[in-house]
Amino acid sequence: MDTVKHQKKNTSALKKSKSVKNINHYTNVHGLPSIEKIVSSVEDTPRPISTQIVGTIPEWIKGNFLRNGPGKFEIGNHKFNHWFDGMALMHQFKISNGQVTYKSRFLSSDSYQTNKEHNRIAISEFGTVTMPDPCKNVFQRFLSRFESHKPTDNANVSFVTYKGDYYVSTETNIMHKVDPDTLETEKVDWSKFIAVNGATAHPHTEPDGTTYNMGNSYTSKGSYYNIIQVPPTKKTEDETLEGATVLCSIPSVDKTKPSYYHSFAMSENYVVFIEQPIKLDLLKIVTGKLRGKSISDSILWDPKLNTIFHLIHKHSGKVSSIKYLAKPLSTFHQINAFEEDGFLIIDLCASDDGQFATSINSPERASIQLGSCKVGGLGNQRHHPTRGKTSQEAVRPCLPLHHGAPLESHVQVLMLSRLE
Ligand SMILES: [Fe+2]
Repeated sequence: MDTVKHQKKNTSALKKSKSVKNINHYTNVHGLPSIEKIVSSVEDTPRPISTQIVGTIPEWIKGNFLRNGPGKFEIGNHKFNHWFDGMALMHQFKISNGQVTYKSRFLSSDSYQTNKEHNRIAISEFGTVTMPDPCKNVFQRFLSRFESHKPTDNANVSFVTYKGDYYVSTETNIMHKVDPDTLETEKVDWSKFIAVNGATAHPHTEPDGTTYNMGNSYTSKGSYYNIIQVPPTKKTEDETLEGATVLCSIPSVDKTKPSYYHSFAMSENYVVFIEQPIKLDLLKIVTGKLRGKSISDSILWDPKLNTIFHLIHKHSGKVSSIKYLAKPLSTFHQINAFEEDGFLIIDLCASDDGQFATSINSPERASIQLGSCKVGGLGNQRHHPTRGKTSQEAVRPCLPLHHGAPLESHVQVLMLSRLE
């Protein structure tokens, strides 16, 4: 009851707020304090500063707490169109003897350096397409339209680890290895080690350090979803992704429209890839610059399609012949996955409205993407006054494992139970 009252109070406060009515860009989020600071530009803090501590930090906690995210949304007179596009800012909280110092540093990516040099957005990002350089002559400007989008190295999504080293990652083929003390970086290209065009920013790591990830490859035969395995340790001090292998490749049902995925699930024995009806239209992406369209303009939601859960055995690389089908849903993040009593149980944040993942730059959409995952189940979604039409809910698909048992059908339809 208190919660309802609290929500009503917030809603009326928002209605009174003039700035909420005038929202037309994701950085104009006054009245949405949950995301206001996340989509604001800041200066970096390269020299460590002291912090004020509330409570006590145990003496035994020692090390660097690292985070990244977008930190700069304007270059010169240009603004990025999407909150995914801000220039990567790395944060370090150094904890020692019960004290914490903070410093931050913009990632010295090619995107950041090129934009800085030209004092304008010179490299396209997910939701922002660059305009031809005004310094070029008319003919050069015309020709530059025929270039396709180059993958960005603006790794602003997450810190990840491979073989005990730290990296910042986005979803392209480029990551940056980070010195956790100095925040200095070195570029690392997945495609120099394995035949993939990118990898997610949310790998999973086994207790022994072996890391699994997923990445797409685009070949003349079509698009493939690849399961990647990276060994747990380095053989030499300066190596990066040496020894990485593709455990298996799953062909996309539609060769030119593979599904978009931001992450995947992993249990003790399986990787679970969720092929959702959010589609990347490769033809539109390739011709995007010519048409003045960004990558986000080439992402489609097709609610006529099912969601397919693919099970891959981690140790053999074998893909299960059973295709687990569920109703159309869109998911960015999974919460947990485990095997119990002959089932593989996944907890995930999902929505049955794919609009939150498609072409968007409004603060309401940014709020949905950043918003927490509510308990309650699909089909029970609520209109949220500050988050647009729908928000994400926690659901629990349970996949029967059928170890060695004969099957009547190789298609299993899943009910998505609510996570209570
Ligand atoms: Fe994420």
